[in-house]
Amino acid sequence: MDRIRVRGGARLDGEIPISGAKNAALPLMVASLLSAEPLVLSRVPDLADVAFMAQLLAAFGVHVAHEPATTLGAGATYVLKAREITATTAEYDIVRKMRASFLVLGPLLARVGVAKVSLPGGCAIGARPVDLHLKAMQALGVHIELAEGYVQARADDGLKGGHIVFPFVSVGATENALMAATLARGTTILDNAAREPEIVDLGRCLTAMGARIEGLGSSRIVIEGVPRLHGARHPVLPDRIETGTFAMAVAIAGGTVELTGTDGTLIGALIPHLTAMGVEVMPTNRGLHLHRNGFRPVAVDVETEPFPGFPTDLQAQLMALLATAQGTSHIRETIFENRFMHVPELARMGADIRVDGEVAVVHGVERLKGAPVMATDLRASSSLVLAGLAAEGETIINRVYHLDRGFERLEDKLSAVGANIERLKE
Ligand code: UD1
Repeated sequence: MDRIRVRGGARLDGEIPISGAKNAALPLMVASLLSAEPLVLSRVPDLADVAFMAQLLAAFGVHVAHEPATTLGAGATYVLKAREITATTAEYDIVRKMRASFLVLGPLLARVGVAKVSLPGGCAIGARPVDLHLKAMQALGVHIELAEGYVQARADDGLKGGHIVFPFVSVGATENALMAATLARGTTILDNAAREPEIVDLGRCLTAMGARIEGLGSSRIVIEGVPRLHGARHPVLPDRIETGTFAMAVAIAGGTVELTGTDGTLIGALIPHLTAMGVEVMPTNRGLHLHRNGFRPVAVDVETEPFPGFPTDLQAQLMALLATAQGTSHIRETIFENRFMHVPELARMGADIRVDGEVAVVHGVERLKGAPVMATDLRASSSLVLAGLAAEGETIINRVYHLDRGFERLEDKLSAVGANIERLKE
């Protein structure tokens, strides 16, 4: 298994190109199931999860072709053509590896009226059930049975529009319901829908495919079903989690960096915290400019929330940054239980963090110290890289396959701006 070695202390200077968003690319690829015509997606990041998704879709009969990126961050172009759906089972082996596989449920039901999808099972960041996805499908007239670890779903007379009120915000359940409703008979209303930019991006792509959708980006989305969708071309939105992660890399390591091909409004909940910490953040015509001098960042209190609040996917990285800040910070994680697994790893590097239920109390220390650490999940892995940038000496991060699921060549992007980081191949 590959490892990453970081030697701390280098300032970052230069430009980092931001890739297309993993969390937009995956549902967009799934949307190809809704049409017999080709869906052409550009700016698709080169990630393990994208490759998994291509493999899953191919098993349903989708013809997947792709042209690799020409430059780092530019992304690949995927052509996905689901002329005929030849199979409707999503096996345990793939769904367990990647929870986003569960998104095929709605589109398969909408297109062919039947789907058998493995339950995802537990994952490292909590129980993550799929009850909201199933309730949404039932509201569209789907009959559901659970047997042998699989969801067996049928809609013999096709889907019909319904009113779905989500008891709390779920990105995945909103996406599943949105895609299914595009081909349902009649009108569907999604209340308390997720407002994440990736939902808006998916909705725009579906609209380009001929769907009739109103209210994207608000908590009420109204979908007027149409009999069929056609092909479309769509560029994947920039990755706000990658944007935020690199912004915090500059904050922790110091230096001057321009993040290109992105948009500061995507990390609107992070920027005020960076500014409060003493980091200079300015929009540019290509993205975002960041600058931090030698002084230590200042402690801040943060709570994770659905968009437009502070994203849970940036919580671990922020914690690494605050571990070196002046003063005491409080981080409340409200989206996932058990999403503090990076805490013991950061502690191995000298961080002083106490977890009390859903709150982590971070007492900033003057300096972190390099150590061998283990990546526990995707976003936690990037927090260890960030900590390594600021630490004295050498940090070796094990289990970087987590990182490869969601960050495109993170070590290349960081070493190009001066970080002392390299992948150790096994
Ligand atoms: C998506 C993102 C993930 C991000 C998360 C929250 C993708 C591919 N992944 O995950 O990176 O961390 O949003 O911003 O886009 N829940 C239920 N029942 C359900 C569905 C969810 O209880 O049926 C719970 C989850 O356990 C979690 C919360 O709702 O506690 C939010 O989860 P959700 O928004 O659905 O996250 P994902 O779509 O899985």
